[in-house]
Amino acid sequence: MLQETRALHPVRRRGWKGWFAVRKRHLGYVAFALNRLTGLGLVLYLIIHLVVLSMLARGPETWDAFIELAKSPAFLLLDVILLAGILFHGLNGLRVILVGLGIGVHRHKELFWGLMLLAAILFIFGAWGFLVV
Ligand code: HEM
Repeated sequence: MLQETRALHPVRRRGWKGWFAVRKRHLGYVAFALNRLTGLGLVLYLIIHLVVLSMLARGPETWDAFIELAKSPAFLLLDVILLAGILFHGLNGLRVILVGLGIGVHRHKELFWGLMLLAAILFIFGAWGFLVV
């Protein structure tokens, strides 16, 4: 019985490592793990964003120094990673909401890949804007 339960719940068996052990898992599981990872990343970003904004209270010199840092290539690369996270989480989240409402349940894989195509297109334009323009 215990073995049966473990076979049904590989995530429970592997503990937190099971969250990201996506080999041979269904597409839905990979999407769920990435959604969780990007969701936590966005929470982290929100905290950092508030800390950075608090610099405004320390005067123009501190803020100007930060703006210089924000223009560096390494920082712009972080913006690109953030964009990828926002697009994946937002559009995959939309799919979860639609499927939860009973919309596209039988075509959820096509819905997923369609939204990921949209994410890829928006990502290319957005990354272009950050890095080139
Ligand atoms: C367009 C905006 C967003 C949409 C449509 C969206 C949608 C969703 C959905 C549907 C879920 C539940 C997924 C599931 O049950 O399988 C979720 C989870 C979550 N979201 Fe978002 N979200 C958005 C923005 C954000 C933002 C801005 C943050 C952080 C500041 C965030 C953080 C999280 C976290 C931490 C989870 C829980 C992940 C987990 O425990 O698996 N989301 N989101």
